[in-house]
Amino acid sequence: MAKPIFVLSGPNLNLLGTREPEIYGKTTLKDIHDSLTRQAAKSQVDLVCFQSNMEGDLVNWIQQAGQEGQAIIINAGAYTHTSIAIADAIRSIDIPVIEVHLSNIYQREEYRHHSYISPLAKGLICGFGAKSYELALQVLLFEAQNG
Ligand code: DQA
Repeated sequence: MAKPIFVLSGPNLNLLGTREPEIYGKTTLKDIHDSLTRQAAKSQVDLVCFQSNMEGDLVNWIQQAGQEGQAIIINAGAYTHTSIAIADAIRSIDIPVIEVHLSNIYQREEYRHHSYISPLAKGLICGFGAKSYELALQVLLFEAQNG
């Protein structure tokens, strides 16, 4: 069995479904994780899905993914715009990282336009709601199959 793909979500994403639904939609994080897990299973790939409101948890999981995973899909929430610790953790590992956001951060407040993660990520998908996560997974599954 191939190594798992880690799906990491940061602060306040546990509230998806009820949090500012006009921006983030009504899909819950559990719904997203369930749908991703079904999609990955079709390609015999395991997913490890974690969410935390704590920056250090995300750092720990990025390090763990670097040892045990084949790739990371990360929505670091507001830490995207602030966290040098998360960026340093990504710098310290050697697997592809795809940055995702439900909203298009470049259409929003200026303080959301800067991401510490984007320069380190293989790619960025934002603005497609819950589908941003699914598109990231599709890219990774496609690449795993087609090299
Ligand atoms: C977000 C965008 C961030 O700016 C915000 O702080 C979030 C969610 C998104 O998925 O659109 O928490 O990462």
